[in-house]
Amino acid sequence: MIETRDLTKMYGDLYALNRLTLKLERGDVYGFIGPNGAGKTTTMRILATLLNPTWGEATVCGYSIYNGAKEIRRLMGYMPDFFGVYDDMKVIEYLEFFAAAYRIKGPERRKKCDQVLELVDLGYKRDALVTSLSRGMTQRLGLARVLLHEPQVLLLDEPASGLDPRARIEMRGLLKELRNMGKTILVSSHILPELADICNKIGIIERGKLLFDGDVASAIRQVRQHIVFHVCVANGLNAMAKERLEGHTDILSVEHKADEDFLIVTLRDGMQDGSFIADLLVQGSFRLKMLKEEEIDLEDVFMGITKGITN
Ligand SMILES: Nc1ncnc2c1ncn2[C@@H]1O[C@H](COP(=O)(O)OP(=O)(O)O)[C@@H](O)[C@H]1O
Ligand SMILES: [Mg+2]
Repeated sequence: MIETRDLTKMYGDLYALNRLTLKLERGDVYGFIGPNGAGKTTTMRILATLLNPTWGEATVCGYSIYNGAKEIRRLMGYMPDFFGVYDDMKVIEYLEFFAAAYRIKGPERRKKCDQVLELVDLGYKRDALVTSLSRGMTQRLGLARVLLHEPQVLLLDEPASGLDPRARIEMRGLLKELRNMGKTILVSSHILPELADICNKIGIIERGKLLFDGDVASAIRQVRQHIVFHVCVANGLNAMAKERLEGHTDILSVEHKADEDFLIVTLRDGMQDGSFIADLLVQGSFRLKMLKEEEIDLEDVFMGITKGITN
């Protein structure tokens, strides 16, 4: 649905985008993650046919950005990171204005506007002035606006930025709803945990370069060298369990921190499956209370992949 090859944008001698190659299949929700200045907005503007690349190719639904702008704009909804709303305009008037621009006519127009307002949970604000909306509501109105012409593909540039925690959660719920509707979505953020659980693919970009492209699990694997398990046995026998586990060929180390009531078991390179730990302990007549793979902080994954250098 979206494909780019060696997409490059230069401003003077600065590479805002450096040979970006990515691919979104139908129904993909692709989290485009990178620090400020990484090239996310540049990518979206090129795909939305609002900005020409210096070189490289990009297609949306099979149409090239170079000669298919008209078709692309019909099939795509682009929500920029900042968009103007107009003073003295009601929510419903705002949407009708854009619906008219999309040539949605007659009773169909009012129906469509009400429908997208319901979808973003702003039905109760239809007669409010757009200037009276909170930031979260304004973002949802912006989303409603790009849904009017029922695009198959959505480009959403940092839709959750500047929102309070509740509004962020609502925005995520809305993205899930759009995902369930089968839309193909490219959504950007500078925060990985914000998108990790709603995207089936992520790309991590820094200084115009795509540093990682794949699913969240493989991003974690790339950063984490060893798999770590937390293990606890019954009857306060952790110290004895430690002795039993130490020295096993698949175990690198067993740690018992003074203030924790569990053992930290680190597997050797390349070992993924820790279920043998359970077998070892049960065979040693220990009663296993807990065996849990340590969760990795997604911020750490992001920090591990990027170098923290910005343009
Ligand atoms: N019109 C412009 N002129 C010069 N440099 C620009 C222009 N637009 C963006 N840039 C630069 O391109 C880089 C990428 O910007 P952008 O795509 O907005 O990043 P992001 O959206 O990831 O924060 C930044 O270094 C930015 O300063
Ligand atoms: Mg941006």
